[in-house]
Amino acid sequence: MAFDDVTLIEHPVISRDLTILRDVNTSMAEFRQAIKRIAIILAYNALKELPLRSFDVETPIGQTTGYDIDQEIMVVPILRAGLSLTDALLQFIPDATVGHLGMYRDEETHEPVDYYSNIPEGVKEAMVLVVDPMLATGGSADDALSFLKKKGAQHLRFISLISAPEGLKRLQEKHPDVHIITSAIDEKLNDDAFIVPGLGDAGDRYFGTT
Ligand code: PRP
Repeated sequence: MAFDDVTLIEHPVISRDLTILRDVNTSMAEFRQAIKRIAIILAYNALKELPLRSFDVETPIGQTTGYDIDQEIMVVPILRAGLSLTDALLQFIPDATVGHLGMYRDEETHEPVDYYSNIPEGVKEAMVLVVDPMLATGGSADDALSFLKKKGAQHLRFISLISAPEGLKRLQEKHPDVHIITSAIDEKLNDDAFIVPGLGDAGDRYFGTT
């Protein structure tokens, strides 16, 4: 299945680390380290096309042209699992603001249930990077993007580790303006709306809950 406006990031480190994440025998500590390494590569790629402004800089030897990023950035993790991708973006953009959207997926209906939101000022102007390692049915991401658009967000990107075709399809239909960056497009969803082969529940494996 071909998807427009989806960037699949491929890298040997991602292939190795996705295997660590998928492996049911991986410890919580190894899981955290692997997700953080992939997050750095995803963040690097998600920030590739940011606009720059130039200015004069004096080096110890002479003058040159310097650059700074000419775009406010807001990172919005979908709680809880989205927190695992947030720090990588903040390492590159230390002055990014961070909004939080709390939602969990109801185990019966598979629909997202919202429990928290806190979005800083500046959402209208910022490049808003919504992060969640798992895009399954796409319900959580769809809700998060709709909520942010209602708040006035105009420049949105969605960053995920593993995406199901069903979730990508839903986001493309509902949010064709939102560019998606992901490190894997898996096969399908199972009857419990878990990604196959996936890695299980990212939040539980990252935080040690069951
Ligand atoms: C998981 C995952 C996404 C959502 C994906 O969260 O982190 O937020 O489900 O599913 P969807 O695309 O079908 O909406 P979960 O409900 O497990 O909450 P958690 O992050 O607190 O573990």
